[in-house]
Amino acid sequence: MDGNGRWATQRNKYRTSGHKAGVESVRKTIRQSSKLGIKWLTLFAFSSENWSRPQKEVSMLMELFTRALKKEVPELHENGVRLNFIGDLSRFSDGLQKRMNKVAALTHNNDKMVLTIAVNYGGRWDILQAAKKMVQALDDDNVSSKEINEDLFSRYLSMNEAPNPDLLIRTGGEMRISNFLLWQMAYSELYFTSTLWPDFDEESLNQAIESYHQRERRFGKTPKQVKENKQC
Ligand code: IPE
Ligand code: MG
Repeated sequence: MDGNGRWATQRNKYRTSGHKAGVESVRKTIRQSSKLGIKWLTLFAFSSENWSRPQKEVSMLMELFTRALKKEVPELHENGVRLNFIGDLSRFSDGLQKRMNKVAALTHNNDKMVLTIAVNYGGRWDILQAAKKMVQALDDDNVSSKEINEDLFSRYLSMNEAPNPDLLIRTGGEMRISNFLLWQMAYSELYFTSTLWPDFDEESLNQAIESYHQRERRFGKTPKQVKENKQC
């Protein structure tokens, strides 16, 4: 979700008002995704690099996040959304950590959609923490490193229960991944739009998904193989 600051600057407003406007786009995106039957939606809300922003902006983002959690959870819970948080949560205040845990526990059995919020998240951090956990587990169970394969390793990643993302959408015109789900996105389709996040709405999401439907996902195979596979 990129472009909040520029959206505000274009309107001669403080960057924070762009973040506030961005919350509305989050709402729209969740509702529309649910309507379209999307089962897994992951939002990159705050990266591990975002801490280096001016202190005022960081605390405002924390406040907005805390407020949104309080305000939006009842409706999400009612609509069968399961909330999940990924990232190094230990850097957040105790209050915020407790709230995230509570929300995750409350919505744990919901099965309409899994909404994952990535906060203080970084793809490299994720790979490293998975490696550490795996090494520890192999050690504890006396398992040889010969047993390590992609499947085993990915069990220790943050999104271990989720399928790999089909589509990555990045708003705001930048064409980079910025340390998002690096391992998990190996074969994801990438969609970049210059639309700034606060302007992203239901129609924008529909367009991204329309573009996704035009893609041919080959996973390394030839077009002929893909076609034959589809027919059987
Ligand atoms: C994304 O918008 C929101 C967060 C990273 C929290 P930006 O704040 O990065 O907006 P720009 O890139 O400055 O326009
Ligand atoms: Mg940005």
